[in-house]
Amino acid sequence: EKGGHEYFMLKEIDEQPEALANTLRGHFEAGRIILDEQRISDQDLRDVDKVFVVACGSAYHSGLVAKYAIEHWTRLPVEVELASEFRYRDPVLDRDTLVVAVSQSGETADTLEAVRHAREQKARVLAVCNTNGAQIPRESDAVLYTHAGPEIGVASTKAFLAQIAANYLVGLALAQARGTKYPDEVAREFAELEAMPAAVQKVLSTVDQVRDLGRRISDSKAVLFLGRHVGFPVALEGALKLKELAYMHAEGFAAGELKHGPIALVEEGLPIVVIMPSPKGRAVLHSKLVSNISEIQARGARTIVIAEEGDEAVRPFADELIEIPAVPTLLQPLVSTVPLQVLAAEIARARGYDVDKPRNLAKSVTVE
Ligand code: M6R
Repeated sequence: EKGGHEYFMLKEIDEQPEALANTLRGHFEAGRIILDEQRISDQDLRDVDKVFVVACGSAYHSGLVAKYAIEHWTRLPVEVELASEFRYRDPVLDRDTLVVAVSQSGETADTLEAVRHAREQKARVLAVCNTNGAQIPRESDAVLYTHAGPEIGVASTKAFLAQIAANYLVGLALAQARGTKYPDEVAREFAELEAMPAAVQKVLSTVDQVRDLGRRISDSKAVLFLGRHVGFPVALEGALKLKELAYMHAEGFAAGELKHGPIALVEEGLPIVVIMPSPKGRAVLHSKLVSNISEIQARGARTIVIAEEGDEAVRPFADELIEIPAVPTLLQPLVSTVPLQVLAAEIARARGYDVDKPRNLAKSVTVE
C-alpha cells in the first residue's frame, strides 16, 4: 500500500504531480473556471469586496501563498488568518465578504467554527477541501475539492500543493467574475498551472542530493528558513515540516526582517535555508536576497540555497545549492516546497523518528 516506499509521506511526496493534475482537471471548460459546487449566485461572486482565507497549519500557509496571486489577479484585499484567531477577533464581515476555508480533512474544529461564525455574519463561504462530503464543505456556500487523494502521513505534502493550486483557481474564478482578467488571460494563467505537474516531476528527480544533505545536517540544533514574497510562506512551511517531523527547532522568517532581530541568532555552522526568487522574474528581490545571504554567510551560517537553474549570482554564497526549474514567480512555491519536504523527512529518518506518525500529533485536529 506504500507502493514500495518506506513511509506514506514519501509516497505522497512522489504523488504530487498527479495530485496537482487531478486538482486542476475539469476546472477550465469552455473558456471558464468552474467550481465543484456553487450555491451562491454569479452576481454575489461579482459583488465580493473582500476575501479572508481561514485555515490552520499547512493549509494556512497555502493561503499565505495564494494571497499574492489573488490580490494581483482580482485587486481585492485578501487577509489570511489562522482559524483559531479569526473567530475570536470579531472580524469585519458582511454579505460581500468571501471567506475561503481551506482544510485537507474538512473536519478541523477551528476552521469549522470559523466557517460557522462567518456564515452567522452573512459572509459567503467557499471551502477548499480534500475530503468529499466532510463537514466544512457541507456547511459552505461553494466548494472546490483538491483531488490529492487520501493523505495518510501526518505531515501535509500533496494536499498542501493541491491547496495552493485550488486557491489559485478561486483567485481566477473571482478575477473572471469581476472582469479584472480577460478570458484569454485566465486561460493563460490556467495553462501555466497545467504545466506545473511536469515541473514538480523534475524536482522529484533530484531528491537524492537533498536526502544526502538532510543526513549531513541531521544533528544540527536548529535550522532557519528565509524567503521573500511567495518564498516567505514557503519558509514558514519548511520550518513547520521540520518541527513536526524532526522535533527540531526551526523558524521561518521574511528575509527583510533579518536586520530587525533574527540575524542575532546566526552563529557558526547554523544551517539557514534560503528560498531565492527568480533572478529574471523578480530581479530586485533577488538582489536583496543575495545581499542577505552574503551577510549571514559572513557571520558563519551554513547557507543552503534553493535557487532557479542557472542562477549564477547566488552560487558564490551557497554552501549547498539546490536547483529548481524556472517557473512563473507566483507558481514557484509549487516547486520550492518539495525539497523542503524531502529535507525534513530525511532529517527525521536520520534521527530515527517515524515520519508518518510524529509524536503528539493527530492527522485531523477535531478539538479546539
Ligand atoms: O485538515 P486540515 O487541512 O484542516 O489540517 C490543518 C493542519 O492541522 C495541518 O495542515 C497540519 O498543520 C499538518 N500536520 C502540517 O503538516
